[in-house]
Amino acid sequence: MKALVYLGPGKKTLEDRPMPQIAAPTDAIIKIVKTTICGTDLHILKGDVPTCARGRILGHEGIGVVDKVGGAVTAFHVGDRVIVSCISSCGKCDYCRRGMYSHCVNGGWILGNKIDGTQAEFVRIPFADTSLYHIPAGADEDALVMLSDILPTGFECGVLNGKVQPGSTIAIVGAGPIGLAALLTAQFYSPAEVIMVDMDDNRLQLSSRFGATTIINNKDGRAVEKIMKVTGGRGVDTAIEAVGVPASFITCEDIVAPGGIIANIGVHGVKVDLHLERLWDRNIAITTRLVDTVTTPLLLKTVQSHRIDPKRLITHHFKLDKIVDAYDTFGAAAKTNALKVLIEA
Ligand SMILES: NC(=O)c1ccc[n+]([C@@H]2O[C@H](COP(=O)([O-])OP(=O)(O)OC[C@H]3O[C@@H](n4cnc5c(N)ncnc54)[C@H](O)[C@@H]3O)[C@@H](O)[C@H]2O)c1
Ligand SMILES: [Zn+2]
Ligand SMILES: [Zn+2]
Repeated sequence: MKALVYLGPGKKTLEDRPMPQIAAPTDAIIKIVKTTICGTDLHILKGDVPTCARGRILGHEGIGVVDKVGGAVTAFHVGDRVIVSCISSCGKCDYCRRGMYSHCVNGGWILGNKIDGTQAEFVRIPFADTSLYHIPAGADEDALVMLSDILPTGFECGVLNGKVQPGSTIAIVGAGPIGLAALLTAQFYSPAEVIMVDMDDNRLQLSSRFGATTIINNKDGRAVEKIMKVTGGRGVDTAIEAVGVPASFITCEDIVAPGGIIANIGVHGVKVDLHLERLWDRNIAITTRLVDTVTTPLLLKTVQSHRIDPKRLITHHFKLDKIVDAYDTFGAAAKTNALKVLIEA
């Protein structure tokens, strides 16, 4: 089968690989129908993710058809159409029993990281019963690819952890696919003001169409000043960090209002200064989270009922044999205006 393989920092190739096989009775083999590329795949290619070894098939998002199941799989059958979760969970360990699938001691974020991933014609999914979701008949499958990772990430790490409330003022720093997923799902809670911050005018224009009430281009480094101005000097109740660099986290520290929450989503590779000398008396909270994908069933219902339309995040379509072009397009988002690139296997 064809698969996109990581060959070490800066190197990847589309090559022929053997078909995955059932290795444990709880496994399923999925024939991939559609997959996509995540910002985290670019982090791996930069060499930022040491757990991902050379020779690994990348990808942790996608939908497909069940091709084979192990003897212990009861919830899925050959031919079922499924969403693959980016998080594999055994459903039995202490963390899984607490709904913290991302910290599953037998799984977690292993797909396209510690085990071969979804950017291939077939993938082996461990703990299939608790790591796959049924696709309802007649569903728009393109939209459902966004449920593997980005929608639950924006919702769980940003909106739920940030306790977005009716009438609240929120800022989302970073208008990439994750920040936009937070923007879409924040609207379940009817915040009064949603301020989006980025340096990319195209992404900011999109944010306006997706429901942002104020957009701020931070190219001049004056986002904090502008946010304080539009909030009457008060700041925001929820500051969602959706970039993963020190500057964007510090922006959140500077704009959080008394009683507010900084909800970090970004993957940070270097240390960030925490200004407790300014924050200690502001009654704030800081949250961090690796996406658990516990909200996937809930989000699936909101997509089915047209409360949200995550398909709007898809900007480009490719076939699997052009996946290297898809990486080039996704990696040059500032030039290509790419958000999510959909790859058909
Ligand atoms: N916590 C989790 O479980 C989890 C899951 C998936 C992704 N992530 C992380 O979420 C982050 C966002 O992902 P993405 O795919 O949307 O990334 P992305 O790189 O596509 O988007 C980031 C955006 O931030 C903007 N930006 C950069 N510096 C900025 C600054 N100082 N102020 C304002 N905007 C700035 C960029 O222009 C870009 O549009 C990444 O760090 C990713 O690794 C976390
Ligand atoms: Zn991802
Ligand atoms: Zn577990």
